[in-house]
Amino acid sequence: MNLHQITFSPTGGTLSVCESICKGIASASVATELCVAADDLRLPHLSSADLAVIAMPVFAGRVPALALQRLKQIESNSARCVVVAVYGNRAYDDALLELHDAAKAMGFRVIAAIGAVAQHSIINNYGNGRPDADDKTILQEFGKKIAQKAASGNLSEPSVPGNRPYKKPMEGPHPTADRHCNACGICAKNCPVGAISTHNIRKTDKQKCISCMRCVAECPIKARGIGKVMHFIIAQMIKKPCASRKSNEIYL
Ligand SMILES: Cc1cc2nc3c(=O)[nH]c(=O)nc-3n(C[C@H](O)[C@H](O)[C@H](O)COP(=O)(O)O)c2cc1C
Ligand code: SF4
Ligand code: SF4
Repeated sequence: MNLHQITFSPTGGTLSVCESICKGIASASVATELCVAADDLRLPHLSSADLAVIAMPVFAGRVPALALQRLKQIESNSARCVVVAVYGNRAYDDALLELHDAAKAMGFRVIAAIGAVAQHSIINNYGNGRPDADDKTILQEFGKKIAQKAASGNLSEPSVPGNRPYKKPMEGPHPTADRHCNACGICAKNCPVGAISTHNIRKTDKQKCISCMRCVAECPIKARGIGKVMHFIIAQMIKKPCASRKSNEIYL
């Protein structure tokens, strides 16, 4: 059996959660990152004996459409899988159910699921520093339980929360660069949808941008952002539900 770690992680929180779960399952895994520039996309080969941990971030209570579109290019070959919705301490709403449904429709046999917390990638002080040491212990313990379930041959499907039809998708903010930008090109090279042109690097093509915040996280001099006003508006909008520490919710 090969363990596959499949992520769509624009700013690293989803990856960190997935790595901790995989650590609890086995000492080695094959990593695939789906949030890369289109030319850099490499898909894994799965067999029916394999186990995949599929982790995606929550955007406005949903899984980003591009993440699902890229996931669906993978041939499941009836492998077992664990679905992981990583949220920024507000809520995961219908995202875990959506990912569960998508994995099943691809022919995966879903044996476990989790809604896990990471730092909010737009408002970084919500869920700040998560997954932290306590989260990682929980995630690794979850990984151990998955390994036990897989070894026992138990293929029971978890029941996950959420509603169908899923929430309506919401457009997010589109980052731009400020006057400190030195046109290094890192953000343009790494944008998963090519929304930043090297000819006009401070701007963003709003039609293409999926608001993933990868460019903001990767700018070495913090010249890219959504602007103070937009940051304030979003921070106020989600202040209340983000105030209390949310937990990692496990479905086995
Ligand atoms: C456009 C957008 C929408 C988001 N919507 C939600 C949400 O509905 N609920 C929530 O708890 N976190 C939300 N977040 C936070 C992310 O789900 C969270 O930070 C996640 O860890 C991001 O994954 P990454 O670190 O792999 O980029 C949102 C982030 C972005 C960029
Ligand atoms: S321009 Fe938009 S899609 Fe591209 S990395 Fe930035 S936020 Fe993501
Ligand atoms: S990564 Fe930052 S400094 Fe480099 S081009 Fe993008 S916004 Fe400018």
